[in-house]
Order: sequence, then structure tokens, then C-alpha cells
Amino acid sequence: MKNKNTRLLILNGPNLNLIGKRETAIYGNVSLNDYLNQLKTNYSSILIDYQQFNLEGELIQAIHQANNTYDGIILNPGAYAHTSIALRDAIKAIDIPTVEVHISNVFQRESFRKHSYISDVCKGCIIGFGLQGYRLAVESFIYDKDCFF
Ligand code: DQA
Repeated sequence: MKNKNTRLLILNGPNLNLIGKRETAIYGNVSLNDYLNQLKTNYSSILIDYQQFNLEGELIQAIHQANNTYDGIILNPGAYAHTSIALRDAIKAIDIPTVEVHISNVFQRESFRKHSYISDVCKGCIIGFGLQGYRLAVESFIYDKDCFF
């Protein structure tokens, strides 16, 4: 079944405000704002909000506030994936599911990016599909897992 009235919050961690300008060989040259605005337009039948925080505490606060306001969180934690137990605890502390997104394939990069403190407490992970990882994450919330089309 397709879920109507879905409310999703897309949260982005540190340095992701620079996507489009930063390390373009890895992340591409489309700005995250432009991409997510287009995503909102393309999925205008559901509610999609997005925010970006460079500070860990602000990201954690946004996760707390999203609880029971949204049906799910799509989270690109940036480098906090590899460092933050506090972020993991925040995800565990809320009642709504989180999907982890990474634009790049972190498993093809430096070894310190291969571990995420949050993957196993997330509903699922979408890694290495570029910006379209956000769209795939949105689709994962719109469709039940037993609905193939
Ligand atoms: C990233 C991967 C992280 O390792 C890195 O620190 C980022 C971006 C990604 O989307 O590929 O800032 O989360």
C-alpha cells in the first residue's frame, strides 16, 4: 500500500550546506538546497521539510523535536556518523524511524568512514547513490515494504 499523508523530515549534518561546491569529484556540483527543493516539488502530495546543522547538539535537538511531529527522519549525519554516540542515542530515544543516507559510497573511501555509529539503529541505510539517495529514502517511507509497485 502507498502511504498518503506521510510527513518526513530530512536532516543534514555538518558541511552538507557546501554540497555542490565542496569536493565536487565526490559529491557532484548540484547544491543540496536546489536538489531538496526539487524533491519537495516532485513529491508535493506529501509533507517534506529539510534542515541542515553544522553543530552536533543542534542536530540532536532537531531529532528530539521531530519525534511524533513527523512519520520519519531521513538523516545524512555527515561525519557525525563516524564519531557520534550522542547521535546514536538520540535516534534510539525517539519513536519514529530514521533512514541513514550518505551521498558517497563511504565503503569505497578512507577506512575511518567505514564505521557508522548509527546504521544499526536506523530502519535502513542508503549509501553511494549520490543525491538521489534522498529520493530513494523518501520512496522507502511512501511504500510499505511488501508493496513492490
Ligand atoms: C557523507 C559521508 C561522510 O563520511 C562525510 O563526512 C560527509 C558526507 C556523504 O553524504 O557521503 O560529510 O555523509
